[in-house]
Amino acid sequence: MITFITGASSGIGRALALRLAAEGDAMALAARRADLLADLAETITAEGGRALALACDVTDRRSVEAAVASCEGELGPIDRLVVNAGIGSPSPGTDFVTRHVEKTLEVNLLGAVNTIGAVLPAMVERDLGHVIGISSLAGYRGLPGAAAYCASKAALSTLLESLRMDLRRTGVAVTTVCPGFVRTPMTDRNRFPMPFMVEVDDAARTIARAIASRRAFCAFPRSMALAMAAMRLVPRPLYEWVAARPSSPRMSDTSG
Ligand SMILES: NC(=O)c1ccc[n+]([C@@H]2O[C@H](COP(=O)([O-])OP(=O)(O)OC[C@H]3O[C@@H](n4cnc5c(N)ncnc54)[C@H](OP(=O)(O)O)[C@@H]3O)[C@@H](O)[C@H]2O)c1
Repeated sequence: MITFITGASSGIGRALALRLAAEGDAMALAARRADLLADLAETITAEGGRALALACDVTDRRSVEAAVASCEGELGPIDRLVVNAGIGSPSPGTDFVTRHVEKTLEVNLLGAVNTIGAVLPAMVERDLGHVIGISSLAGYRGLPGAAAYCASKAALSTLLESLRMDLRRTGVAVTTVCPGFVRTPMTDRNRFPMPFMVEVDDAARTIARAIASRRAFCAFPRSMALAMAAMRLVPRPLYEWVAARPSSPRMSDTSG
C-alpha cells in the first residue's frame, strides 16, 4: 500500500505514520516542517520501511499538488490518503478574530479539500483507494470557546459523509475518524480539563485498525464518543444552558 499522510511531522500523524509503516505501507510524509519529516523518514527507513518526506503546506493548493506528484513519481499511485493536518486553539466569541477563524478553516477544512482534490480523482479513475479524514468529536456540537475549531471539524465530517455516499458504488472507501482528546503538542497547550485523554500511540493503533477494516466511521475513546453522541440528542436549550454555564470547561479557559 502507498499511503500519503498530511500532518506527519507531529502528534497523531507521526504516530500513525510509524504504525502504518510498521504494518508495511510505503509512506509519503507531508507537513511544513521538513526537518521533522526527514527525521521520521529516517526512523522508518532504519526500521526497514519505505518513506518519503514531502514538505508541503496544505493551504497552498500548488504545494499539495506538487507533493502528490512527487509521491506518485517516486512511490507510485496513492492507495490511502490520510487527511490529518490540523490546528486548534481557542476562538472565544467575546474576542472574535476573523483572521484566526479564517486560518483554522483554511487548514482544517480547505487544507483537507486541497489534499482530497489532489488525490481523489485518480482514485476514482482507478476505482480503487481509501480516503481517511481525521475530524473530531468537537464537530458534534458547538463547544464554548471553540467556534473556529468546531465549525472546521463539523464541516469536515459532513464533507466526508457526503463523499462516502457518492463513492459508495466505487472502489474508493471513505473513513471519518473522530477522536476525543489525544495527548499531542496540540493538546499539551490546553489549560482546561480534558476528560478521557488517550495516549497518541493508542490513538494511532485505533485509527490503523479502522483503516485496515475500511470502516466508515471511527469515534474514540468509547466513553467520550458516547458522551458526545448523547450530547447531540440533548435539546438545544438544555445543551446550551449546561455547556455555557460559567463552571463548564471551555477551550478558552486558561487554568485547569
Ligand atoms: N490531539 C487531539 O486531542 C485531537 C483530537 C481530535 C482531532 N484531532 C485532529 O488530529 C489532527 C492532528 O492533530 P495533533 O493533535 O496530532 O496535532 P499536532 O501534534 O499539532 O500536529 C498537527 C500536524 O498538522 C500539521 N500542519 C498544521 N498546519 C499545516 C499546514 N498548513 N500544512 C501542512 N501541515 C500542517 C503540522 O505540521 P507542520 O507544523 O510541520 O506543518 C503537524 O504535523 C488534527 O487535524 C486535529 O484537529 C486532534
